Amino acid sequence: MDKNTFKQKINEEQHTKRQVIKMEKAKTYERLIPQVESLIEGVDNHVGALANVSALLHSSFLHYFWCGFYIVNGDELELGPFQGDVACYTIKKGRGVCGTAWEEKQTVVVPNVLQFPGHIACSSKSRSEIVVPVFKGGNVIAVIDVDSKGYSVFDDIDKDGLEKIAKIISPLFE
Ligand code: SME
Repeated sequence: MDKNTFKQKINEEQHTKRQVIKMEKAKTYERLIPQVESLIEGVDNHVGALANVSALLHSSFLHYFWCGFYIVNGDELELGPFQGDVACYTIKKGRGVCGTAWEEKQTVVVPNVLQFPGHIACSSKSRSEIVVPVFKGGNVIAVIDVDSKGYSVFDDIDKDGLEKIAKIISPLFE
């Protein structure tokens, strides 16, 4: 096999591997949906339920380094239940990735946090991030924040999966 054919073969194999990883990730999100539903169904302990949802997510995905909730309180987001390293307690509207997702009322995917203006580095280990708003009556009431140690880790599969989970957990917030 000549050098170029070999290179092409390696590229094809890497592409196939990436596709398989993506398919596995999509399947895992699908599997998680009923589990999240059953974790919150009929549970009055909302803090406990959110803690369990963050534990379930964190233990389901290798690419998750930190995951948890920031909850709207006045003009700030306050730290809620999470899994991972210690994190900052409050984030102002429009600040960092979390405050931007809140202000823009949409999911923000950041391939490289070091290049995101105003990124709040709770952990110096974080390299990419996704923040998904949780809505109630058209207003953002919380965000789901997930960090990874790798660059460009989050994609549309994470976005779709986490947006579905955000809808399911919305009743847990007042
Ligand atoms: N990086 C976030 C802050 C929260 S931590 O990642 C847990 C931000 O820029 O909003």
